[in-house]
Amino acid sequence: MIIPIKPWLELADGRPLTGGGIRPKDFRSSALVLSSDPVGEEMDVARNSGGMGTVFSTEGHRMEFYHEPIMGAEIRQAFEPVEGKQFLDGTLGGGGHSEMLLRHGAHVIGLDQDGDAIDYASERLEAYSDRFLPVRGNFAEMKSLLHEVGVDTVDGVLLDLGVSSRQLDDGERGFSFREEAELDMRMDQRQPLTAKAIVNDWSLEELTRIFREYGEEKKAYRVAQEIVKQRELNVIETTTELASIVAKVVPKVSAKNPATRVFQGLRIAVNRELEVLERGLESVIELLVPGGVLAVLSFHSLEDRIVKQFMRKHSQEFLDRPEWPEPRPNPDYCLELPSRRAIAPTSEEVARNARSRSAKLRCAVRLS
Ligand SMILES: C[S@@+](CC[C@H](N)C(=O)[O-])C[C@H]1O[C@@H](n2cnc3c(N)ncnc32)[C@H](O)[C@@H]1O
Repeated sequence: MIIPIKPWLELADGRPLTGGGIRPKDFRSSALVLSSDPVGEEMDVARNSGGMGTVFSTEGHRMEFYHEPIMGAEIRQAFEPVEGKQFLDGTLGGGGHSEMLLRHGAHVIGLDQDGDAIDYASERLEAYSDRFLPVRGNFAEMKSLLHEVGVDTVDGVLLDLGVSSRQLDDGERGFSFREEAELDMRMDQRQPLTAKAIVNDWSLEELTRIFREYGEEKKAYRVAQEIVKQRELNVIETTTELASIVAKVVPKVSAKNPATRVFQGLRIAVNRELEVLERGLESVIELLVPGGVLAVLSFHSLEDRIVKQFMRKHSQEFLDRPEWPEPRPNPDYCLELPSRRAIAPTSEEVARNARSRSAKLRCAVRLS
């Protein structure tokens, strides 16, 4: 699929973007006037339950269900968005982070595998259409997707991992046990694999593995056994049916629904979240200009471990092994870490946006 190259690929005076991200053949002669902030107002976010609720965009229309962009201030500081810089927002969602970057004059390519997110964010960010390009696809394919729109490098890549509040709260998407819905959980509704297929068709061993590895559910085997028993009687169709099957074997010990971990495991399996994260991270290196920034927001230890290991692998200048007489240069060395530790949201942010509570931000800078 070729997405038509838009005039936003050129600066008004023909200067290449600082990233040099545009191939010469993509330059156009038509003038494009960039305004750094078309509306000139900060977005106003309703500060209520979990940072969700109603958000008013710069045009003042209601943006229900999308959460406040998490750690927006820290991400802004890392990216230093200005006119002439171009970023890839690999998880566009409701466009909150993209809007922050656009407001400061940058160009943004907003990637999301969810068609609903693409439609929603495109409408929200219409005022920036000269500098914003929505692209539907998986960030595992970010290199080829960017290549298709004529972009080879960018000044920064943002990944805000996981599902959005809108996806979770949309009763029909089947992500949550709170709403009765067909078991679905696909972020990309074009893909054939659904949660219902996994629950009804995968083997006892496979179910145990995903609940244990991706859900970190201690009773993974017992849950899988119960599912296999129930599905011999009837096809397991809905989120609430699955939640009640899990509740038979996982006791309720806290305010959390006992099915939380099983649902997490299932969602990660449906969307192959860990595998695509690994593939996406490896592509980022080739896309970043020297000095370009990678920022990843993760929300559970499985994701964070992958990000941490990736950053460690590429930020060690030398490798050492007991059998070597001396350390050797690391062939993968290409990143610098401003901080080896993950950055956490401020207590003020956690107080106004409960979803930020488990966020961890890791940043890395591409060396030349
Ligand atoms: C947490 S939300 C992002 C919210 C966004 N940063 C904002 O400020 O509104 C995550 C979004 O990333 C998308 N997503 C998750 N994994 C993806 C992947 N591998 N490729 C493309 N999009 C993905 C989801 O569909 C969802 O819309």
